[in-house]
Amino acid sequence: MKQPIGIMDSGVGGLTVVKEVMRQLPNEQVIYIGDTARCPYGPRTKDEVRAFTWQMTRFLLEQNVKMLVIACNTATAVTLSEIRSALKIPVLGVIHPGARAAIKTTQNNQIGVIGTEGTIRSEAYVKALMSINRHVHVKGLACPKFVPLVESGEFKGPFAEKIVEESLSRFKGNGIDTLILGCTHYPLLEETISRYLGPDVQIISSGEETAREMSTILYFQDLLNSSSERPTHQFYTTGSSGLFSQIACDWLDLSSIQVESISLRNY
Ligand code: DGL
Repeated sequence: MKQPIGIMDSGVGGLTVVKEVMRQLPNEQVIYIGDTARCPYGPRTKDEVRAFTWQMTRFLLEQNVKMLVIACNTATAVTLSEIRSALKIPVLGVIHPGARAAIKTTQNNQIGVIGTEGTIRSEAYVKALMSINRHVHVKGLACPKFVPLVESGEFKGPFAEKIVEESLSRFKGNGIDTLILGCTHYPLLEETISRYLGPDVQIISSGEETAREMSTILYFQDLLNSSSERPTHQFYTTGSSGLFSQIACDWLDLSSIQVESISLRNY
């Protein structure tokens, strides 16, 4: 089926899912919306996150998407079940795929989760992990400085290293063997995080796992795109298209992309 896949996030974080979709599902066209103007969602109330996520959902439905991916952990924690039950198309979040991958990876059942304040407060990962294996020990930590760092494009270099070290000092040598990056912005800091925590901690990025699950669902529901045309992805942001485009081209390794700045006010 030729229709596009809709992917949303509070900003550029969901591009970590897009990157995996481009790699694992290269025939599929992506329509992406990042609500950069209202990012971060992490410190916002549930009502705000719910309202903004529904606006992005309505915008993507208008683009006639065949599948919706809430590529934001904060929005997934608040809205996945209600959006899933309201829509006829498949709706995926990023929390359960990450949790499943962590269960598969851990050897000592000590799993760390880092995310926004909203995600950690919701305990969505604890619930998801415990629903699969009641014997895992989960340690959660909010890292509120990471999203602004990524959105400003400063996710490489000594300043990023300093913020990562300060934020994760409690997690260094605390016994976890697996760390879930429970925010889709964090894979842009993955190298720095991994270097700081050392080789004994396996890092799980939900983007990779989510793309794998998308692939399975598209196959089982007979929704894969069989056309031989090369897909043209379309990106929308509620913020500045310049900075979005710069981060997206860098992260997706593309020389240019189509980015349009839009308002979600009427959705
Ligand atoms: N990428 C979003 C997430 O996965 C970031 C949330 C935010 O905007 O604070 O939670």
